[in-house]
Amino acid sequence: PSAAQLLHMVRAARRVVAFTGAGISTECGIPDFRSPGGLWSQNRPIAFSAYLASPQMRAEAWRRKFAMEPAFRNARPGRGHRAIAHLVAIGKVACVITQNIDNLHQMSGVPTDRLVELHGNGSYAHCLACGLRHEIDEIRLIFEATGAVPDCRACGGIVKTATISFGQPMPEAAMLRARAEAEVCDLFLVIGSSLVVYPAAAIPLIARRHGARLVILNREPTDLDAHADLVVNADIGDTLEPLTRLDG
Ligand code: OAD
Ligand code: ZN
Repeated sequence: PSAAQLLHMVRAARRVVAFTGAGISTECGIPDFRSPGGLWSQNRPIAFSAYLASPQMRAEAWRRKFAMEPAFRNARPGRGHRAIAHLVAIGKVACVITQNIDNLHQMSGVPTDRLVELHGNGSYAHCLACGLRHEIDEIRLIFEATGAVPDCRACGGIVKTATISFGQPMPEAAMLRARAEAEVCDLFLVIGSSLVVYPAAAIPLIARRHGARLVILNREPTDLDAHADLVVNADIGDTLEPLTRLDG
């Protein structure tokens, strides 16, 4: 019944936003954050200020990054990513707002101009001072050879993965775009997020306040279920796969 309801709501909608979290990528072999065995059950997050303050913390952050690399490198888009890419291709989904840094929406063929990366992208690094892009593999080679994280080759600034840490300012353009898309959509799909991290988790509420219907697809309850028109507590791949057969 809820699967049929979802299909009906997507069919009836004119402008859909898909808002994704780590739950869409677990079937691709990338752990989420807050499930048992998730990343934050293994390690406490390294705050932005701590990363800036000490080379030891930077080394620790990069050790973690390199430990995760095989999982990211081998990951391919899952059923959820493919369904969303299809809905973008047929013009049903106008925008994908993601908290994920795994690059899988990009890999699934969602065009850059339809994608908002709220928490950045983990597939490359950049200099916090001048913005120059640095490749993860190059940093790994230097780290393995010297035991230290290299500074920017252009300006000597601190290099960090192009992701947002706790305490780090949000990317302004992405936040503006996400809010604007939330305001004009008529259906807002939350997919695989616990909705506990702000400001990202406020975006579904913006959509709701501007009259969109709100659907939450997640294995377990979320903090915003009370605001939703439909909650589907099931596996995301199972829930989204049927949407791949929808036509324009
Ligand atoms: P969470 O780990 O907080 O939430 C993921 C949700 O997906 C959980 O509620 C899981 O139950 C659910 N889930 C996992 N696999 C699923 C599946 N196959 N089917 C259905 N549900 C599934 O991850 P996010 O909400 O994305 O930010 O986390 C938000 C932010 O917190 C992240 O972007 C990251 C993190 O700290 C930063 O690092 C800034
Ligand atoms: Zn630099």
